[in-house]
Amino acid sequence: MEKIYLDYSATTPMAKEVVKAMEPYFSEKYGNPSSLHALGKEAKDALEKARSSLAKSLNAKSVEIIFTGCGTESNNLAIKGVAFANRDKGNHIITSNIEHPAVLNPCRWLEKQGFKVTYLDVNKEGLVNPKDVEKAITKDTILVTIMHVNNEIGTIQPLAEIGKICKKKKVYFHTDAVQGFGKLPIDVKKMNIDLLSASAHKILGPKGVGLLYVNHNVKIEPIQHGGGHESGLRSGTENVAGAVGFAKAIEIAKDMKKEMEREKKLRDKLINSLLKIEGSRLNGSRTERLANNVNVSFKGVEGEALLIRLSQERLQVSTGSACSSKSLEPSHVLTAIGLTPVLAHGSLRITLGRYTTEEHINHAINVIPKVINSLRKISPF
Ligand SMILES: Cc1ncc(COP(=O)(O)O)c(C=O)c1O
Repeated sequence: MEKIYLDYSATTPMAKEVVKAMEPYFSEKYGNPSSLHALGKEAKDALEKARSSLAKSLNAKSVEIIFTGCGTESNNLAIKGVAFANRDKGNHIITSNIEHPAVLNPCRWLEKQGFKVTYLDVNKEGLVNPKDVEKAITKDTILVTIMHVNNEIGTIQPLAEIGKICKKKKVYFHTDAVQGFGKLPIDVKKMNIDLLSASAHKILGPKGVGLLYVNHNVKIEPIQHGGGHESGLRSGTENVAGAVGFAKAIEIAKDMKKEMEREKKLRDKLINSLLKIEGSRLNGSRTERLANNVNVSFKGVEGEALLIRLSQERLQVSTGSACSSKSLEPSHVLTAIGLTPVLAHGSLRITLGRYTTEEHINHAINVIPKVINSLRKISPF
């Protein structure tokens, strides 16, 4: 039976147009962009065309886009690269306690190397208060890194306000925009963003390619050394097919406003229906929420059991973050917004995307209450 995919924040299927755009770059136009012959030039042209499209989508310059292997790599390069290049100015970094592990773990690692990190608390909806950012900045602060959209609860952070503060205080501002890129408009210049991470596989593009926008004024060091590709910041022969696919994906995302309106209607229908279930609560903000995100906790239900039962009913969903589902700890995001560990374990994340239909949502609305009821009957809680 056809599976119903409702886990678009974990990854997305590749759009057929993306696959088609990439295909020639595997066995026909396979040149190395660094080669000087015709095949090399063909690959280089494709790479630069992709870079230019992606740069335009952010209101950045082509030279400010560095291709990487994924969002995790972009975050590592941004955080460690800025930290080590600016050690002479200071050793303090500010982030939030609901970041993805791809930000939290580089920060923790830097602490072991002698850097100091402030992990800001968020409010009950998962929002960072820009005033807290301002208060935390000291003369030693070199970088503020706050995510664009939270991957578990979909909370959208006030990036422009934080950017303004960072500009005023002359501190670099990085944002992990892996969940927001291609879904919400981003203008790095207007929002005063100095560095931004994005990943293709979250927006119908291929896995294995990400980007880091680096404003041309930022002082940053590479964390991987080699032949000096990507302005010396990311050595390694470029993934031309991946870059072409990423650019195609952002081209598809041009109509994001219309698509987000569509997903929002489906999302709200699902949220309203799930909140009718006794002992349920919505996690995150009702207003500052990405159009594709539903995160609900159910008392007396264990998330993993719920996920497995829903999978048997065709629904592919997630509990907390798919990236951290190997951990038995309750989600650090849900506990940061005040959930008890037990309630955090009983949470369901449902994320919609381009190919989600009303029938899919109706199926979820029909199946989830039944599965919860049957699990509650056998629950020790
Ligand atoms: C907010 C956020 N940052 C970073 C990542 C890591 O991206 P990638 O899978 O491309 O390494 C993810 C993946 O889920 C994410 O949601």
